[in-house]
Amino acid sequence: MGRIRFRFDFSLVQESNLSDGVGISAADFRCAMDQVDRAVKSLEARNLKGEIGFPDLPFLEKEGRAIARDAKALAAKYTHLLVLGIGGSSLGTRAVYEAVGMVAARGGLKLSVADNVDPDVFFPLLASHPLKKTVVVAISKSGGTGETNAQLSVVIAALKKAVGKRWKEQLIIVTDPQKGIFRRLAREEGLKSYEIPPNVGGRFSVFTPGGLLPLAAAGVRIGGLLNGAAQMESIFRNTRDADNPVRFASAVYAHYLYQSPKPVQVWFTYGAGLDRVAEWWQQLWGESLGKKRVCGSPVGQTPVRALGVTDQHSQVQLYQDGPADKVFTFVRWMKGREKGIMPKAELAPEMAMFGGRQMRDLFDAEFEGTVGALWAAGRPIVRMEIGSRDEEHVGAFLQFWEWVTAIVGECAGVNPFDQPGVEEGKNITRALMGEKGSEEQRTRFERRIAGIKKAEIRVGEDRPARKGGR
Ligand code: PA5
Repeated sequence: MGRIRFRFDFSLVQESNLSDGVGISAADFRCAMDQVDRAVKSLEARNLKGEIGFPDLPFLEKEGRAIARDAKALAAKYTHLLVLGIGGSSLGTRAVYEAVGMVAARGGLKLSVADNVDPDVFFPLLASHPLKKTVVVAISKSGGTGETNAQLSVVIAALKKAVGKRWKEQLIIVTDPQKGIFRRLAREEGLKSYEIPPNVGGRFSVFTPGGLLPLAAAGVRIGGLLNGAAQMESIFRNTRDADNPVRFASAVYAHYLYQSPKPVQVWFTYGAGLDRVAEWWQQLWGESLGKKRVCGSPVGQTPVRALGVTDQHSQVQLYQDGPADKVFTFVRWMKGREKGIMPKAELAPEMAMFGGRQMRDLFDAEFEGTVGALWAAGRPIVRMEIGSRDEEHVGAFLQFWEWVTAIVGECAGVNPFDQPGVEEGKNITRALMGEKGSEEQRTRFERRIAGIKKAEIRVGEDRPARKGGR
């Protein structure tokens, strides 16, 4: 397996290349690097104590090989794979699958991911599966997420109807080793199951069976994925400060998170599949860093996705002339796959410049043009270029971002591994659906909602009757 290749270019966040104090001065950078240093020490200590598990995942090669063997057996038996899961239990799978691309041709299972309970989406998706030839992988780290539970109940009923007692063979559970409804179900029904280590949070779990099993069954080389992540781990651990891409990036993003805050980070991706990686990053960045700090003050950066070149024609105007509240990360593959040539057309003289050239030249020019224009407008920009579109590079890139996120969170004084806000929403949803034991929470919530002064306009509907009044 080849060595990974990346270019992380921080030129356009340096003070010398940006005016009006938007860039990072040498003194600010040194200060941020000191904080990064402390954060890394603290995270490494927590990792040694077993509190944080994501750094260890790339090295679980034996487990990876066992998963790859099981996945091969699934691929021989079925044609379709339906993943049930949400957030960290689905985004990583989708990101890797799309980023690596062209996986379908390798003879793996046809992969679909159900991560929504919109019935107009979920039921047609389920109906599109030949259930006799479909294996379902239900993933929930906590084993208690309402959406995935609801999907699972529907899918079990559908499987029972389609294949009778064999439903148990066609359902695989991935969850916590001990806790949660999913673990209980797996035990009681004797279902095949895999474990997500308790010290790995949902959005850091792409290299656990939660990501690896469906990806391997769909044809992704998970050995390559882990190898790439392990290479990034080694670069991170063995490279000195300013040459260390993880530490450098952490200092830059920490600066724009809280030292000299830019409330929004935009990822502009140029390259097939990268938009899904951006989606994965949105959860990682948003949920890990958007928190109340120990001192009570809020911190966070809204993660926004923009797709090159499409969104140049919808968002760039705002980025160029709108509020200077954003830091930009441009991401692209160094090498694309297609070499499509534009024909020498005689249509119009203005089109002659395209004739006989690769469309990629135009794509690259758009990338450079957008970076250049935003830089000229004084926007801070980081450029990231990924060597090639394969498992090794994708694995390395995800591991890179997991570390950067953890370090920046630690620097900012938040716990990057929890998500109290998400949990609150989950609890209220379950209470509203009538969960036993949550009655008090439901009453509290309904009372609060009842206190809202209405300013609602309904068109084409009768006004609802007022309670107890005229
Ligand atoms: O990062 C997290 O832990 C969460 O956002 C989860 O990924 C998400 O809520 C789904 O949770 P679970 O995998 O427990 O069903």
